[in-house]
Amino acid sequence: MSTREEADARSAAQPFWLRGPFAPVVDEVTAHDLPVAGELPRDLAGTYVRNGPNPKDGASRHWWFGDGMVHGVHLDNGKARWYRNRYVRTARYGGTNLDAAANGEDTSAARARRLRGGGTSNTHIIEHAGRLLSMVEAALPMQLDRELSTVGIFDFDGALDTPMTAHPKRCPSTGELHFFSYQTVRPYLTYYIADAGGRVISKREIEVDSPSHMHDFALTEHDAVFFDSPARMTRDWGDGMPFAWSETHTARLGVVPRAGGAARWFDIEPGHLSHTANAFERDGTIVLEGTRCARFEASPPCLHRWEIDLGSGQTRERAIDERIVDFPRIDDRRVGRPHRYTYVVELCDFVGGAPTSARLRRYDAATGASAAQDLGPRRIPGECVFVPRGDDPSEDAGYLLSIVYDGERDGSELVVLDAETFGAAPVARVQLPQRVPFGFHGTWVSTP
Ligand SMILES: [Fe+2]
Repeated sequence: MSTREEADARSAAQPFWLRGPFAPVVDEVTAHDLPVAGELPRDLAGTYVRNGPNPKDGASRHWWFGDGMVHGVHLDNGKARWYRNRYVRTARYGGTNLDAAANGEDTSAARARRLRGGGTSNTHIIEHAGRLLSMVEAALPMQLDRELSTVGIFDFDGALDTPMTAHPKRCPSTGELHFFSYQTVRPYLTYYIADAGGRVISKREIEVDSPSHMHDFALTEHDAVFFDSPARMTRDWGDGMPFAWSETHTARLGVVPRAGGAARWFDIEPGHLSHTANAFERDGTIVLEGTRCARFEASPPCLHRWEIDLGSGQTRERAIDERIVDFPRIDDRRVGRPHRYTYVVELCDFVGGAPTSARLRRYDAATGASAAQDLGPRRIPGECVFVPRGDDPSEDAGYLLSIVYDGERDGSELVVLDAETFGAAPVARVQLPQRVPFGFHGTWVSTP
């Protein structure tokens, strides 16, 4: 066997998250004045940043467990000014706290070490109150600077003493950031609200009998909505995934008034929420749209809609589509309000647990139809982010940004689409200086 064949054989033996387009990259790169095909809109001024796992030592026990790495592309005045990728430097990345991360020890001391950087920070990144925060649901957020270097742990001036979800929701009316934590010890579920200035103004325990895997939640104009899944958390983070599917635990949606008051729980069909697209109120009914797996880690996600009639207590639910999709995003100005468009990544042609092709798809709630955005042969997009065009309030007046893997050259591009002409050719493609491994979630940070 040749050296190349031996390398290919080793690669094929790796789990999907360590090979091919998922494989971690080695170098932290800074590159300026990137080549652009097409024309970058001059009003796109800011940085697209995306988080994902990139195990430093090239090994991890699960796709979710690699060290966090953020990739950023800064756009300004029609130019792609720079690309940077940087590890999120948690204590674990730095080589300390490894015991807390690896051995799953479930003591208060171990939990405290794990909370403060004993794991990774690899799932999402947002900006709130001028701070760029990298997040993972098992620990406190990490603050980064505008060039993606790690500043340190951010605990909302001591007000956050539990892990923080990687999927907080910003209310477009108040500017508040709503988020939660789940953990193996009481309080199992905590609901936080930070004001637009980044100060925690509300912290409430939500009573549940044990923790469930709660990756995401939803926000409406008046309520937060929690998904209590049969995927129960059976031990603390450590070796392997700490969840077990319960055949007896009823799946429930919990509606918690933002302004205070008791939770109301509503039984639903067994299933698991992968990601929320949005939720809103309509005629006394809460509508929640998201990607649902019939069973956690055993069935693929599809777009789904739950409805809760708050007057009668009746619930309804239905699959919006049978296609395998995830990473739903909307125009974030519609969070908690009725939205028309949902953008997802449609995953296709699974081999060995991973998709070998993908495309973007847009669902239109007004027509019930969906449309695909094919990006070309062997091109695979990640989650897309909607960036409004100036102050135009129209829901499709803006751009969609996604990092796209090009299998022809084993490289990546930042693709910019005009949302008004979804399905048409991209308006610009920024060639990145290295492959960006498939990751999780990203955000657009406007230049102030
Ligand atoms: Fe997520």
